[in-house]
Amino acid sequence: MLAIIGGTGFSSLAVTDGGMETTAFGDVYMETGELHETPVVFVPRHGNPPRYPPHKINYRAIIQALFDAGVDGIIAVNTVGSVDETLSVPGLVIPDQIIDYTWGRQQTFHDDQIVHVDLTHPYDPVLRTLLCDAAAGYPTRTDGVYGCTQGPRLETAAEIRRLRKDGCHIVGMTAMPEAGLARERGIPYAAICVVINAGAGIKNRIIDMDETRRSLDTGMGWVRDVLIRVVQST
Ligand code: HPA
Repeated sequence: MLAIIGGTGFSSLAVTDGGMETTAFGDVYMETGELHETPVVFVPRHGNPPRYPPHKINYRAIIQALFDAGVDGIIAVNTVGSVDETLSVPGLVIPDQIIDYTWGRQQTFHDDQIVHVDLTHPYDPVLRTLLCDAAAGYPTRTDGVYGCTQGPRLETAAEIRRLRKDGCHIVGMTAMPEAGLARERGIPYAAICVVINAGAGIKNRIIDMDETRRSLDTGMGWVRDVLIRVVQST
């Protein structure tokens, strides 16, 4: 069964039963139900109702709950800003790499053992291909480096310039440690990101929150369509 981790603007599947699941790493709200007659598990990473900022999300409880549910893949939905000036806003990105700029988050399930998982390719190639195929027809970039910042504030213009020099294409706050923890639990994981604003300093004005909200609504509509196509194709 496939799992979906929803982000900002995507906090419920609306066709499901929800409740709290208890794990060894804490409790997590989870929904089980059907997306286009296909069983799926859904976790809104910011909680239901949404209340956990990116640095306060219990990523370990989320991944552990999905592991305990026996899911065989996770599709993460993230909202991001653009770092690459050529990206459409709104637009979709299915990233293939991550640079982690976060700090102070619980990065591992193994606090009492020395375990180093391989994360050369953080996103699962099979799930990525399903997403890329399903996103055909939408303004989509089918690769890219996700720079994961700590937040919750947005970046300075200089930070966005630095991310660009580092090779990032998009910036968000929730890719890590989620992707690393999924790898520790051996669950294939891929992400579809909605670009809802140009990164700080890209336009000659500050980030307009009303415009961002409109891009979010449009982009999340696209994501729902893409996810339905993904489950139809599996
Ligand atoms: N920066 C970081 N995270 C984000 C942004 C951004 O500009 N937009 C949406 N999530």
